[in-house]
Amino acid sequence: MAGGTVITGTTDTERIEAPVTVRAYLICAFAAFGGIFFGYDTGWMGGVLAMKYFIRQYTGKQYPADLYPFSTDKESDYQIYKTKTFKIPARDQSLTTSILSAGTFFGAIIAGDVADHIGRRTTIIIGCTIFCVGGIFETASTGIAVMCVGRIICGVGVGFISAIVILYMSEIAPKKVRGALVAGYQQCITIGILLANCVVYATQDRDDTGSYRIPIAVQFLWAIILAVGLFILPESPRFYVKKGKLEQAARSLARVRGQPIDSGYIQDELAEIIANNEYEKKVVPQTTYIQGWTNCFTGSIFKGNSNIRRTVVGILMQMMQQLTGINFIFYFGTVFFQSLGTISNPFLISLITTLVNVCSTPLSFYIVERFGRRKILIIGAAGMITMQYIVGIVGVTAGRESENNKAAVSAMIAFICFNITFFAATWGPAAWVVIGEIFPLPIRARGVGLSTASNWFWNCIISVITPYLVGTDKGDANLGAKVFFMWGSLCIISFTFAYFLVPETKGLSLEQVDQMMDECSPRNSAGWKPHTTFAQATGLAEKGVVLENDARVETAAVEEVQETIRQKSFG
Ligand code: BGC
Repeated sequence: MAGGTVITGTTDTERIEAPVTVRAYLICAFAAFGGIFFGYDTGWMGGVLAMKYFIRQYTGKQYPADLYPFSTDKESDYQIYKTKTFKIPARDQSLTTSILSAGTFFGAIIAGDVADHIGRRTTIIIGCTIFCVGGIFETASTGIAVMCVGRIICGVGVGFISAIVILYMSEIAPKKVRGALVAGYQQCITIGILLANCVVYATQDRDDTGSYRIPIAVQFLWAIILAVGLFILPESPRFYVKKGKLEQAARSLARVRGQPIDSGYIQDELAEIIANNEYEKKVVPQTTYIQGWTNCFTGSIFKGNSNIRRTVVGILMQMMQQLTGINFIFYFGTVFFQSLGTISNPFLISLITTLVNVCSTPLSFYIVERFGRRKILIIGAAGMITMQYIVGIVGVTAGRESENNKAAVSAMIAFICFNITFFAATWGPAAWVVIGEIFPLPIRARGVGLSTASNWFWNCIISVITPYLVGTDKGDANLGAKVFFMWGSLCIISFTFAYFLVPETKGLSLEQVDQMMDECSPRNSAGWKPHTTFAQATGLAEKGVVLENDARVETAAVEEVQETIRQKSFG
């Protein structure tokens, strides 16, 4: 597009997004690959901690079979040594598992800032690089100290990737399929968990460092694929608009929509993004770095469109996703299922739960667009309340260990799997979809970063406390199946949260979401229809804005639009 081209925008609410080609859909879908990191990295640690080679190397203890070559009776010293002594101490297990979340927590928060300065795409590539540095420490480690250093560095990388992939996908995806595409990210998380389980299973019996180094080293592959792919993909046009680089914004929008740069559609969509950004900048001026952060918390919590309300909804959304208890099943399911007594092969157990997770997620691609985010979150929470209460009730009655009732135990396992299905089709993907959509552009990167950090914070809390909730040692709560009453009750809070606080964002552009949150409450949001465009409301549709080649555009036209915004107000 030649420098100096004037774009005007549209007054037609149907035209605020350009039609999309198949190639452009594929571009958007590729970024979902970032979910593999998330899943794989959370998936391999548990398996490695249980590997005999790793335990011997770390603790310096002899293999049980070497120490007791002739006695393999159940009650023998061999059994006692194998189950009670030959293991990584619980404190170190907890440290190596949870330290990743500490890194991801800080990584996600920092990433929001970085993404606003150097761009979404570059931030993800940097995340991959940090991740590789951490991976080198992890692979080289022969003990817990170096492993922990590697875990925390990897965590920072995963934090970057997990937050900014959501941001990037939400900003480039076409509105009609944005929910389904972001759900693709959740699908990749589930595949990552499954792959980690399979690789660990394949190497667990090796009697060399390959047992743990191979599962760790496989991660480099994900980092390389994502970084190389993103190198080729375009930057988010919304980032360029935020930076005032309108010519570059036009070029990348043309690429993500697969349209010629001078197409009227591209100009209209770009004009809408510009007009919305100018409007938001006027409402919440951004002057200093500190103000950029404080902006995330401005306004009244009781006002549906205030920044603080959106930030709190994002943070609570991810907190409630974790408090559904899903990771209790993935992290401690093996121990729990074994204690029920029907399945003794731990790998088979985690394979069942992870497979149910992988196979149920595609359902969300359809329902997140058909019924919307709000509805599926409400239904999903109701489903999980029911499933978890059933598991709890059976667990304290017919399923008790003393009853030795195999049918009851099988029923509990079946309902736990139904519970996973409800999560995988609803809260798993929708929590990510919603945090990518509810923030206005000036605080979007930081808002998504804070929400993602909340996910990792609660993930960490759960991995630290649950062993004590179900533990049977002195001082442990020893809840057994009763723990499902706790998760079920927390799902009641999730249900209430979704009903009162989550707006319906399906089918709207990110700018329309902004407008909708301005004009109606979450409970009425599903019926809201766009009635005006930002270009129209701000006067940009009449005056136009000039694009200049690779320049920061603060042209007379933009200033005029800003003046108009100052004078007009919405709704
Ligand atoms: C959650 C993870 C969870 C995974 C399971 C994600 O959306 O944030 O904590 O392990 O889903 O599929």
